[in-house]
Amino acid sequence: MDFFTILSLVASSLILYTSWVLIKTKTSKNLPPGPPKLPIIGNLHQVKSTTLTPYRVLRNLANKYGPIMHLQLGQVSTVVISTPRLAKEVLNATVSSIADRPVTTTSQIFYYRAQDIGWTLYGPYWIQMRKICVSELLSAKRVQSFGNLQADELKSTCKLLESSLGTTVNFRQIMTQTVNNVICRATLGDIYKDRTDLVELLTEVMNGLGDIDVVSYFPSFQFLYNISGKKAKWLKTHKQLDIILEEILNEHRKRTSINQDHEDLLEVLLRIKETGDLDVPITNENVKAVVLDLLIAGMGTPTSVIEWAMSELMKNPETMKRAQAEVRAVLKGNTITETDIRSMHYLKLVIKETLRLHSPPLLVPRVTKKHFNIDGYDIPANTNLLVNVWACETDPDSWENPESFIPERFENSPINYLGSDFQFIPFGAGKRICAGMTFGLNMVEHVVATFLYHFDWKLPNGLKPDEVDMTEVYGASVLPKYPLQIVPVSVSLAN
Ligand code: HEM
Repeated sequence: MDFFTILSLVASSLILYTSWVLIKTKTSKNLPPGPPKLPIIGNLHQVKSTTLTPYRVLRNLANKYGPIMHLQLGQVSTVVISTPRLAKEVLNATVSSIADRPVTTTSQIFYYRAQDIGWTLYGPYWIQMRKICVSELLSAKRVQSFGNLQADELKSTCKLLESSLGTTVNFRQIMTQTVNNVICRATLGDIYKDRTDLVELLTEVMNGLGDIDVVSYFPSFQFLYNISGKKAKWLKTHKQLDIILEEILNEHRKRTSINQDHEDLLEVLLRIKETGDLDVPITNENVKAVVLDLLIAGMGTPTSVIEWAMSELMKNPETMKRAQAEVRAVLKGNTITETDIRSMHYLKLVIKETLRLHSPPLLVPRVTKKHFNIDGYDIPANTNLLVNVWACETDPDSWENPESFIPERFENSPINYLGSDFQFIPFGAGKRICAGMTFGLNMVEHVVATFLYHFDWKLPNGLKPDEVDMTEVYGASVLPKYPLQIVPVSVSLAN
């Protein structure tokens, strides 16, 4: 068969399949409303935009078609939720049928057939690993045990910045290195000192996981991954990472005396694997998948939140002044303690407001296992559920001036990010709520407080605060399109 015969066969089967899916879903169910659909691509042409990020496009569509909206994205039937009330219904649902994640090629390849926590299917394995994660790996006590290494890394960063006083620095580069070091040391210990290869491979994994392409919408066209060479590239990255992880695992196994109060996360996992009373036995692959999850989740989101916080502070000098005055009034020495952070009330408001505007805008998708009903609409099994967190967090019925940065809005407000106020769910909510919230917040608070305490900051080249570019770029996480460039200035402090 020549190439064109194969192509026409593929095209006609695609048309038949998609028409069948469209007719079937349209005739048999009372689906939520949505924009008119074209054959084959469904609504794909309406969600693609060269100027707007996907969550803004989805919010605009929701304004027209409703807060619960059905989209046919190629072969993928998708329901988008855009208000706090509906987010509550979906995320709070006790039915386990909506706690599943979709099966993706990248999560299968990178996470050893999705045996991590974030991408694994809901079931006994996820329940067990999630429990270990929350009570052992990322508990408040464990996070506190990383205080010294975090302080150590921040001290090195301050030294580096001191040698660059008065010159423009790439804030993203410096801060990302700090956070990566903290996460790598907390997860893997100090064994793997030259982390350049590891971090490069982890960045490739992050990019792979965030790669939304034609196969994401036409999953039956997996062969395109073979033709394009993407699959080979991902497999190669996975193999290289696996070699490094195996090496680190072997080093850990050789250790004899371990102080449980200062274990790294891999040591905790290995201890539980060997001695824990487990319903589902843990394999080496499980350990590697979870370790990868922690590294990826821990590096990606905190760095973007910190860069956005600093960008907002540079754009709002009065807010910066107030936050800096507080941090400097609270700190008694050079090392920030938990008690210090607890007293930094305004800083906490700044971070909450940053999370409201700049946390992951769309939750990791869920997929329905069984049919269920919401607001009188049918959501069939195998539907992807997307919660537009950004739309909830800028919902005009819940927030005044929703898109403005106003930390004071949280002053004396009971609204919190713990997963029960659905107009503010930067960590998600329900069964799949972020497992690393304490660690993530701790890191963001300490890093921002340190930068505000030790330095004054100026914009380069006479740039004015309102000229700070807040254009977003959407990928594995949402970042400022142009990395923040700022100038650290010496500050003389009494202590
Ligand atoms: C400020 C920092 C962070 C933010 C804003 C954040 C946000 C999120 C969000 C929105 C989700 C998806 C929740 C859902 O689908 O409902 C998530 C999941 C997750 N996060 Fe975080 N995260 C942060 C830091 C961290 C850190 C530091 C770690 C671990 C080292 C971590 C580990 C995880 C894990 C394991 C999941 C998957 C949970 C599951 O599916 O059961 N996160 N995070």
